Amino acid sequence: MIVVPGVDLGNGPAVRRGRGGAAASIADMDILVGVLNGSAIVLVALFGGALFRWRAARWLRWSGAVLALGQLGVAGYLWSLDWRFAADVVLVAVPPLAAAVVLAPPARDLAPWRRGAAGFGALLHGYAIVSPPAPPYLPDAGRMLVGLAVGVGLAWLWQHKASGRAGRGVRIALGGTAVAALVAAGLVASAASRVPAEASMTDHGVLDYGGGDAGGAEHDGHHAGVDISTLTGPADRTPDRRFALDARAARVTLASGERVDAWTFNGTLPGPELRVRQGELVEVTLTNADVPAGVTVHWHGVNVPNAEDGVAGLTQDAVRPAGRHVYRFVAEQTGTFWYHSHQQSNDQVRRGLFGALVVEPRTAAAGTDLVVLAHAWSTSHDDRDGWTSALSVAAATPSTGTVRRQVTPGTRVRLRLVNADNEPRVHALAGAPFRVTAIDGNDVAGPTDLTGRALLVAGGGRYDVELTMPAGPVQLTLTRDTNGRGSPAVLLSPDGLGELRHAPPGDVLDPAAYGSPTDLPYGADSAFDRTFTLLLGETIGFYNGRPGQWTTINGGVYPDTPVLAVAQGDLVKVTILNRGFEDHPMHLHGHHMLVLSRDGRAATGSPWWTDTLNVAPGERYEVAFRADNPGLWMDHCHNLEHAAEGMTTHLMYLGYHTPHRVGPDTGNQPE
Ligand code: C2O
Ligand code: CU
Repeated sequence: MIVVPGVDLGNGPAVRRGRGGAAASIADMDILVGVLNGSAIVLVALFGGALFRWRAARWLRWSGAVLALGQLGVAGYLWSLDWRFAADVVLVAVPPLAAAVVLAPPARDLAPWRRGAAGFGALLHGYAIVSPPAPPYLPDAGRMLVGLAVGVGLAWLWQHKASGRAGRGVRIALGGTAVAALVAAGLVASAASRVPAEASMTDHGVLDYGGGDAGGAEHDGHHAGVDISTLTGPADRTPDRRFALDARAARVTLASGERVDAWTFNGTLPGPELRVRQGELVEVTLTNADVPAGVTVHWHGVNVPNAEDGVAGLTQDAVRPAGRHVYRFVAEQTGTFWYHSHQQSNDQVRRGLFGALVVEPRTAAAGTDLVVLAHAWSTSHDDRDGWTSALSVAAATPSTGTVRRQVTPGTRVRLRLVNADNEPRVHALAGAPFRVTAIDGNDVAGPTDLTGRALLVAGGGRYDVELTMPAGPVQLTLTRDTNGRGSPAVLLSPDGLGELRHAPPGDVLDPAAYGSPTDLPYGADSAFDRTFTLLLGETIGFYNGRPGQWTTINGGVYPDTPVLAVAQGDLVKVTILNRGFEDHPMHLHGHHMLVLSRDGRAATGSPWWTDTLNVAPGERYEVAFRADNPGLWMDHCHNLEHAAEGMTTHLMYLGYHTPHRVGPDTGNQPE
C-alpha cells in the first residue's frame, strides 16, 4: 500500500452513513439483519440448552423468552419500514419460535419431550432467519408447520416409547431415521443446486409476467418466435469507425510498480479507450489470442441491438482462442460507457478484460476530457484473495498511487468517472466547485455547483463531472473500501506537480435530489403494464453443489430466480429491495431505468436515469422503463462475484428466443 502522510482519505462506511436525505435507520439494515441472525443463533442455543437438566436451564429459557420478544421488536420495526422486510420473519420464522416458547415455559419440571420439541422449534426458527424465504411465503410457512409437527411427534415418541431397555431399538430406529433424513435432505439440496450442464439461459424456475398477460407464449413459446440472432446492427453500411480488440494474456507492470498477471485487450491495462461520435456506425472486431475459456465484449450501458450485446450463451457463443466475432452498432446515446468481457466475467473483468467507451456529441466540447477508471487488481504484492485499488487516467496504465496531470487554469475539465470494480467507490473531489453533468451516460438537467461533496459510483456505474480549472490544484481521491488496499488519487495542477492535501470527503451526493426536474415520458403515476419485485438478500444453502452463504434474488440463485417477462412496448415498473448485508449494483442490459423513488420518497431532482443502480442494505427503489429494445437481456448484480454465484436474472420479451446455450458443457459461462 502507498501511504500518503497526513492525508485522511476517509473510509467508506463513515461516508456512506452521511448520505443526503436517507434515514440512518434504514441504512442500518445490515445491523438489524445481523441482530436477527445473531439472536436466532442464541435462541437455538438457549432452547437447545433446555434439553439438559441444568439448573441454569430455567434461566436460559427465561432469557430465551425475553430474546424472542426482542426479536419480534426488530421484526416490527422492519415491518414499519416495509412489510416485505419482515414478511418472512412474521409468516415463516415466528410460528416455530412461538411453539418453542410455549413448549418450554421457564418451569423446573418439564417433560423431556417438551424440552426436545422446544429445541427443535428453535432450530427451525433459526434456519428460517439465517436463510430467509421469499414470496410467496405460504409454501415455506406450510413446510415449517409440517416440520414442526414431525419434530414434536418424534420428541413425544422418544419419551413415551423409547425409554428403558425395551425402548433401545426404538431409540436406534428413531435416531437412525433422523440422521438418514438429514443426510438425504442435504444430498438432494446439493444435487438440486447444480447448475445445468447445458440449458437455455431463459429457462428459469419461475416465469414472472408481472401482472401482465402471457402473450400466448406459455412454455414452449420461448423456443418459438423471433430468433434474437437476427437483431444485429446495420450490416449493409460501411462503418464510420473500426476498432480491433485482441484478447490475450500479458504480464503488466502498473505505473506504481506492482505486477499483474493479466488478461488484456491489445496487451494493455485497461483496454484501449474507444472514442466515437454520436451517430457513427461502430465496428469492433474481437479476436482471442490465448484466453482459454473464450471471451466476449459487452457494451455496458449502451442500448445496442440484442445480438450485439456480447453475453456468452445468451446473445453469442464465447470466442475461443483463434476465433473472431464482429460487433456493429450505431452510437446513438452520448456519454460515458465501458466495455468488458461477459464470459466468466467475474474472473475476466477482475483480470483486465475491459476498457472505456466514450460517445461524444456531434460537436465535441472544448477543454480537457479525461476518463478516470477505478478498478481493484490482484497484484504481485497481494496475497491470494487480496486486491489493490488503482486509477487509470485516459487509458494510461493504472497506478495505486497519485497520478499527476498538468492542466492550464481556466480550462474546462470533464472527468468521466468509471467504476470497473465490484464495490461501490466513493470519489471525493476537492480544490474547485464542480458539477455532476451525467450519470451512467445520461445528462443531468440543471446541475448546480457542488463543493465538498463525495460521489458514490456503483460498481459498473459512471459519473461525469465538470469544473473550471482554478489557479491551484484539484484532487480526486478514492476512499478506502472493503475491497482491498490502496488509496489512489488524481492530482490536476497548473504545473503538473504538487502533493495531496487533507480534504474530508464530505457527504455523499444524493442523485435523487440533484439538478432540476424536467418533463418525463412517464412517472410514478403512469399506468404500468407490468410490475415486478426483486427482493435482494442472502441465504444459507447450496449453489452448484457447494454449501455456503449466497446472495439471492427473491430467495433464489440462478436458475431459481424469476425471469421478468414483458411484451414490446410495455411500461414496466420494478421495485428493488435489499434486505441483506451487502451492496448490490443492479445492472439491466439494453435499457435505462428511471428512478421513481427511494425508500418511499419520490425523486425530486433531475430525472435520474441509470443502468447500474447501487442498492445498499435497507434501500428500496422503484424504477421504471419502457420495453422498447426487444430481445433477451441480462439483469444482474454487477458485483460480479455475486453474479457468478447466481445473482442474475433476465428480462425476456415474449416471443423471442435464443439459439445459444449456456452451462459448463457448452463453453458459455457468462458470469
Ligand atoms: Cu457490465 Cu452484464 O454487465
Ligand atoms: Cu450483489
